Amino acid sequence: MPLPADIRYIGVYDKRIDLFEGQYPVPDGISYNSYLILDEKTAIFDTADAAYTEEWLESLRRALDGSTPDYLIVQHMEPDHSASIARVMAEYPSLTVVASQKAFPLMRGFFGTDFTGRSIAVSEGDTLSLGKHCLRFISAPMVHWPEVIVTYDEYTKTLFSADAFGRFGSPDSTSPWKDEARRYYIGIVGKYGAQVSALLKKAASLDIRRICSLHGPVLEGDAITEALRLYTLWASYTPEESGITIAYTSVYGNTKRAAQQLYETLLSRGVTITLHDLARGDVFSAVADAFRFPVLVLATTTYNADIFPFMREFTDHLAERGFKNRTVALIENGSWAPMAAKIMRERLSSCKDLCFAENSVRILSALSEESNAALNALAEELSETLAKANF
Ligand code: FEO
Repeated sequence: MPLPADIRYIGVYDKRIDLFEGQYPVPDGISYNSYLILDEKTAIFDTADAAYTEEWLESLRRALDGSTPDYLIVQHMEPDHSASIARVMAEYPSLTVVASQKAFPLMRGFFGTDFTGRSIAVSEGDTLSLGKHCLRFISAPMVHWPEVIVTYDEYTKTLFSADAFGRFGSPDSTSPWKDEARRYYIGIVGKYGAQVSALLKKAASLDIRRICSLHGPVLEGDAITEALRLYTLWASYTPEESGITIAYTSVYGNTKRAAQQLYETLLSRGVTITLHDLARGDVFSAVADAFRFPVLVLATTTYNADIFPFMREFTDHLAERGFKNRTVALIENGSWAPMAAKIMRERLSSCKDLCFAENSVRILSALSEESNAALNALAEELSETLAKANF
């Protein structure tokens, strides 16, 4: 990990976890990053998930090499980073916890104490000198809880960015950042684009040489430029690249056939396109792709006078994350009372600036000459939509 000698990585890499936050599949695990600055005064940045308290403490003890830490900087109170606070505060009775005012009621909620008499509350712009290192605190509410602060070390020009710029997977910088950072961002922080934009505005005034997130690798050089570029797009709900994602559910394979046929037609036209079976794949990969591209195709069946449950869940995930500013095309299948297109449209009614494709596809049980023609017309329209988009 590329860190100056007096900043130590003391995080843990959780490879045992199956679902992060109880819902996001993490096949390559996730790291709970934590750092230690060794100076005249010593500062710990955040802790680790409860499953790793002992491992994290052991790493801290090794890095301290017999010395006593002075400050515990708590940037974020979500338990993946905060669960070991009470334990480390007990181990080092002279340790002072430094956090935003909003973090202390959360500490009371989680630990039954807010460490009164051993705490410093910091606000936007406050500084804390460790010796050579001067820490400047920047508030980052809702990135992604209300109490969040990020910290800029003026001496090393390091931004300790809390959850921002994090990604699922290992803390190793040799594994790719973008796809798992997108899935992490859209899934977890996606709703809070305005607040992320506000943080990016503050970050723009800083000379950042290194980003130390609470998840994933330390970013340096071109990786910082790319992360800032992508965060600017994601936070403003701007499509990242030209392309289409198709998300479908299918009961007996007929809707799947239509989705696959559209996929293959568009692929053969050179369109960048992804296809997601919502019943079988990771729904959050589909959500991330919906935000990645300017065009989304939804295909599902009428079911119990509603739509198939996996599509219901998918549209909920989109709406609650503020999905907007996209073209949406609808494919419905209903054997005797097709109403899925109407319901999908209604379920996205809270999403702003959606443009629905002129061509929609109605399948009555199985693909027919008529519905095949509608699929071809939709492929034509979506190709034109992409061609007109400015990428
Ligand atoms: Fe990694 Fe919002 O906690």
